[in-house]
Amino acid sequence: MGYIRFIKEEMQVIKDRDPAIKSNMEVFLYPSFKAIMRHRVAHWLYLHKHYFLARWYSQRTVRKTGIEIHPGAQIGKGLFIDHGNGVIIGETAVIGDNVTLYQGVTLGGTGKEQGKRHPTIGNNVMISAGAKVLGSFTVGDNSKIGAGSVVLSEVPSNSTVVGVPGRVVKRNNIKVVSPCDELDQIHLPDPVKNDIEMLKRENRRLAEIIAKFLPEAATMVEECEAITEKDEEDNR
Ligand SMILES: CC(C)(COP(=O)(O)OP(=O)(O)OC[C@H]1O[C@@H](n2cnc3c(N)ncnc32)[C@H](O)[C@@H]1OP(=O)(O)O)[C@@H](O)C(=O)NCCC(=O)NCCS
Repeated sequence: MGYIRFIKEEMQVIKDRDPAIKSNMEVFLYPSFKAIMRHRVAHWLYLHKHYFLARWYSQRTVRKTGIEIHPGAQIGKGLFIDHGNGVIIGETAVIGDNVTLYQGVTLGGTGKEQGKRHPTIGNNVMISAGAKVLGSFTVGDNSKIGAGSVVLSEVPSNSTVVGVPGRVVKRNNIKVVSPCDELDQIHLPDPVKNDIEMLKRENRRLAEIIAKFLPEAATMVEECEAITEKDEEDNR
């Protein structure tokens, strides 16, 4: 019964997200369908500590679909992997609901972290062809990662990230202006003037300190001179 429901859900997911599908039967040809169905078995084996069997089963899936999902990865409902070839999902990756991945996506580690090493992907996220998301951070709900991006840090919800390394270019559908774009060409900062102002301030502060200690210093000088004179008289 669970299997039939899974197939119906998958058919709907694929029909909703791939305009290329023409008939329900085609769903059985999708690598995404095979990979996710087989991952559920591999994940069950992993959770029951049958690690070798789990890896063996998932490696057979790689050969059949070109999609490598580590049996430990946690996957929500409605994942769709379009085309699929070259998709790699690491052991500690967590994927929310209604996520779309395209070919060549890696949800991987940087090699610098222990324990949780792979990303957590929120709900309704789209990760475009060839994008690499590396590290144990979170990609917020409803975000999009552009094709070919390399994302190395947290992505806020409702954002579009593009480039290498990935940077947020849109948030809540509003373009994020980079410092280069908003550079005021007329009121440019003057570092030399700033340094002179800073030196003037420091000079004033030192002058105040010296003025405060000046009477005390004069008394000390007088005392020293008196002691020296007395010593000279004693020596005579
Ligand atoms: C990122 C993407 C999803 C668009 O998201 P969006 O929120 O609609 O963003 P926009 O198209 O408004 O682009 C925002 C900015 O990012 C730039 N941009 C978009 N995608 C980019 C990418 N992959 N790499 C670098 N820059 C990119 C745009 O040129 C635009 O720059 P501008 O503001 O200076 O003009 C889309 O460009 C993309 O990468 N799609 C690939 C989908 C895919 O993998 N298809 C494979 C099917 S087989």
